[in-house]
Amino acid sequence: MRFSLLSAAVSILKKFYNVSLRIKVIGLVIFATLLLGLPVIYFVNIDFSRQNNMQLKLMSLAIGKQLSSQSVNYILEDNFYALEKLLKSSVKSDPDLVYAFIENKKGEVIASTFDGGFPADLLKVNSFNPKSLSAVKIKTNEGLVYDTAVPILRGRLGTVRVGISTKRSSMLLYSLIRSIIIVMIFAAVLAIILSSSIAWWVMTPIVKLSEAFNKVKSGSYDVKLDIKRDDEIGMLARDFNKMAVSLKKADEERMENDNLRKNFINNVIKAQEEERKRIAKDLHDQFAQMLAYIKIRIGLLKNLNNIEEARESVAQISEELTNALDVVRNIARSLMPGILEEMGLVCAVTSYIDDINKKSLNFKVDFYSDYDIKNKRFDQNIEINVYRIIQEALSNVILHSHSNYAKINLGIAEGKIIGSVEDYGTGFNYGLISKDSLGIFGMTERAKLLGGDLKIESKTGAGTLINFYIPL
Ligand SMILES: Nc1ncnc2c1ncn2[C@@H]1O[C@H](COP(=O)(O)OP(=O)(O)OP(=O)(O)O)[C@@H](O)[C@H]1O
Ligand SMILES: [Mg+2]
Repeated sequence: MRFSLLSAAVSILKKFYNVSLRIKVIGLVIFATLLLGLPVIYFVNIDFSRQNNMQLKLMSLAIGKQLSSQSVNYILEDNFYALEKLLKSSVKSDPDLVYAFIENKKGEVIASTFDGGFPADLLKVNSFNPKSLSAVKIKTNEGLVYDTAVPILRGRLGTVRVGISTKRSSMLLYSLIRSIIIVMIFAAVLAIILSSSIAWWVMTPIVKLSEAFNKVKSGSYDVKLDIKRDDEIGMLARDFNKMAVSLKKADEERMENDNLRKNFINNVIKAQEEERKRIAKDLHDQFAQMLAYIKIRIGLLKNLNNIEEARESVAQISEELTNALDVVRNIARSLMPGILEEMGLVCAVTSYIDDINKKSLNFKVDFYSDYDIKNKRFDQNIEINVYRIIQEALSNVILHSHSNYAKINLGIAEGKIIGSVEDYGTGFNYGLISKDSLGIFGMTERAKLLGGDLKIESKTGAGTLINFYIPL
């Protein structure tokens, strides 16, 4: 039994946990009202009944005593008619007095207010007790009655018995309890109205917030909550609005980066096609023509009789072959610097820079590499990407900076390749570069793909410094 009550309470609590906040508030108000109201009714009932019983007993004693003293003479005179009149007038004048009667020493009723015959049982239910107040509670047709026995002339002439009804006091108690219940219901209804309004006031913005969250979840960031309050909900709404703005910004940035990346990939593919065309053209226009020329010269060679002429022709053929070899080497180097694969990063960069320094009269590049990185080999992917970053940075210096000097540093620190390319030229505003320019984007992407990063510091008129690191 106890177990089933407990499990019923647990299941009610579980259900209550899942209902809406408004129902929760209403439930709690009703619960609190019952929790306060029921003990109040209980204690009022107990206190009032105790007080009332005491008062009724005292009242019956007072009436009994008065009737006892008033009836002495009538008894002595045997004036039973006057005696009965006295009793009846007392009952008439007091609404709580239900009956009164007098029994003589022999236990015979000599006067009573009962017109339709005296109820014989009544005599036995109570009798005078000299030691304590003999008041007993009895059940009658009129409801509960306090029957009190009071002696006449110390019991020598008999006993007066009076019955005081509890009806009026019970009605008083009921009306008091009814008033308390009405006040409780009023208070509960008022509390329910107030708490529902508060719940509505709290819930409406929370529902709006939840709708807004769902919109953000489905990817539409153009939501703005119009909740102007300075309380916690207002703070939450303001923070939500800030969050939606930054999410929108982040999404736009992400989309822009995606577009840049797509653009980059397209351009890389286009560049590869261009490169293939260029190689095909170089092979066709230069190398194939050179070979055709050499073939003709060799064909002519067999018709020569003069050894001197033959020697001269062979020397020219040899020179043509050297040129043809140069063409092939250049093509091969532009595709993948062989020295990078054979000798490693520092050697390849050194050879590339030597080449530039040799070819350009008024431009100089200094290359500094630390002891740790020299002669050290890295993953092929790292070597080619670092090489391409330096190549692009240097070609930007040559093409855009108007500087006649560039400085390159390469080294290893804290398990990373650290590099920089610096010039003292015009510099540029990073925010203003065209979306079609892919050199800088490509350099950054290469560094990021290898788990590193690349940062550019440049200001118009103040030169450019590119720093990058690649973890090893
Ligand atoms: N060292 C530099 N000094 C001055 N301006 C530079 C430098 N590096 C880059 N810039 C500027 O930044 C722009 C973007 O460079 P980026 O390398 O991305 O593209 P690009 O060199 O114009 O074209 P490409 O895609 O062929 O590399 C350049 O057009 C130039 O205006
Ligand atoms: Mg460039």
